[in-house]
Amino acid sequence: MKPNELIVKGKVKSVIQAVEEDQVLIHYHDKVTAGNGEKEDYPEGKGKINNEISCLIFKQLEKAGIKTHFIQYAGPALMRCKKVEIIPIEVVVRNYADGSIVRQTTIPKDTKFSPPLIEFYLKDDSKNDPLLTEDRLSVMGYKNLRQMKQYAAETNVVVSDIFKKIGITLIDFKIEFGTTVEGNIVVADEISPDGCRLRMNDKSMDKDLFRKGEGDIIEAYQTILNKLKE
Ligand code: TMP
Repeated sequence: MKPNELIVKGKVKSVIQAVEEDQVLIHYHDKVTAGNGEKEDYPEGKGKINNEISCLIFKQLEKAGIKTHFIQYAGPALMRCKKVEIIPIEVVVRNYADGSIVRQTTIPKDTKFSPPLIEFYLKDDSKNDPLLTEDRLSVMGYKNLRQMKQYAAETNVVVSDIFKKIGITLIDFKIEFGTTVEGNIVVADEISPDGCRLRMNDKSMDKDLFRKGEGDIIEAYQTILNKLKE
């Protein structure tokens, strides 16, 4: 692949080949989507904010010894990462009940999960990202579940602590994993308010504001970034 060549264009990010063959640049767009892309908007400055938040979180994960794809901040809305093959499974960690688990079960909202729930979903919009069982994953050929679960639990401890320090509760979040050129599994994609539920003084500070049309995500995301940088 040639430098600057587009590798993948996702819903709100693009992955671009870096000069180094084993590295990529992730470009965060000023775009937000919900409901598998049914609803979208183009909030100015979102790409830059989410990139900065994601870079700060990945830096802390690396510092805590958790292997990620992150290399460095590479300019406004750009993150330099190791090239990985994304595993098409979304791992959701839940500390408190909200969202789909409340809609789909009899578990009351805000139930605290101790230990946190770790769930696997198929990353496939055409199938509406279904929840997977470990038996189904096994038949599908996934062998690294225990490792992904352990990394997800460790990531949750670090990310919950980052937010707790700024007065925000991490309700739940989504992680993606990738396989490096060397064959190692690392935390990949982004960790930003787009893929987390975050609550500050009973107020949503995440993409639920956009999903439910209840507020300005830029104001909320910028508040988070400012607090993280304090
Ligand atoms: P859920 O309650 O809709 O299952 O979502 C749980 C958390 O995972 C929430 O913080 C949003 C995040 N998530 C994504 O970012 N992308 C996804 O495709 C899914 C299923 C969840």
